[in-house]
Amino acid sequence: MARDFLNLADAGGDMLAAMINDAIDRKAARKAWPKARPDADAPLAGHVLAMIFEKNSTRTRVSFDMAMRQLGGSALIMEAGSTQIGRGETIADTARVLSRMVDAIMIRTDDHAKIEELAHYADVPVINGLTDLSHPCQIVADLLTIVEHGHALPGLQVAWLGDGNNMTNSLIEAAGLMKFTLRVGGPAGYEPDADFIARARAAGGEVILTQDAREAVAGAQVVVTDTWVSMGQAGGEQHVAAMQPYQVNAELMAAAAPDAKFLHCLPAHRNEEVTDEVIDGPQSVVWDEAENRIHAQKSVLLWSLGKL
Ligand code: CP
Ligand code: NVA
Repeated sequence: MARDFLNLADAGGDMLAAMINDAIDRKAARKAWPKARPDADAPLAGHVLAMIFEKNSTRTRVSFDMAMRQLGGSALIMEAGSTQIGRGETIADTARVLSRMVDAIMIRTDDHAKIEELAHYADVPVINGLTDLSHPCQIVADLLTIVEHGHALPGLQVAWLGDGNNMTNSLIEAAGLMKFTLRVGGPAGYEPDADFIARARAAGGEVILTQDAREAVAGAQVVVTDTWVSMGQAGGEQHVAAMQPYQVNAELMAAAAPDAKFLHCLPAHRNEEVTDEVIDGPQSVVWDEAENRIHAQKSVLLWSLGKL
């Protein structure tokens, strides 16, 4: 069964909750090693994942590769520039060929329309490893991290600070599916995608946009930020200047709930969107979050390949 994972809504809220639980179980078995044999069921034995990269990556690349290995399968990396995609072979033809050779495709690309086209022409599942529009795999890891640090998702108070980017859009989507409150603090002109906001609100998530960083974090149990300038964005002095009031520093964290957790998908631009004091401080869970990419990506792979 080919299930594309282009956005979180492809799985839906109930499945997202099931994915988090499955990740918790598999992670626990791995931590209990050698008492328990982790992933002893090898559910993806004989399966191969092709990973196409049109942008840089450390975590997505390593976590999907490790996830496939741990589940009994394997992965191969295709740097787009050294493939025929880089010489103009169409997405549709690439999809047709890879569907005859591998069991699933993960792609990191720029224009979201490209992944939609790939999914349309591929007979095997296509997984979104980040586009300019969304980053759903990262958000599965983020939700897992929040849950394992003791929070239930429904009713949770989450704050996002800074640029309204691919991460923000997927977090907004999660607010709708898992019914939590998300306050997005960012400058005018850098808002997240309006369609994602409308869908999340219609699904029962509370999404509030504010230009006041303190209002965004007030009472938040989770504070999230990301780079001010995403891969492929022009950036520039004006863009960076507009982001300054939204830096997550100790003073801003103090306005959140006591013991609020700090998340960042990484890579971090230290002392830009977050200060060393916060990212290296006791409220930061960013290394758990990075590790959780492996555990979360296992759930995504298992769902896409019809094993969950
Ligand atoms: N967070 C994340 O997706 O990291 P990479 O860009 O290193 O894959
Ligand atoms: N918003 C960032 C996420 C990197 C993982 C980017 O797109 O560059």
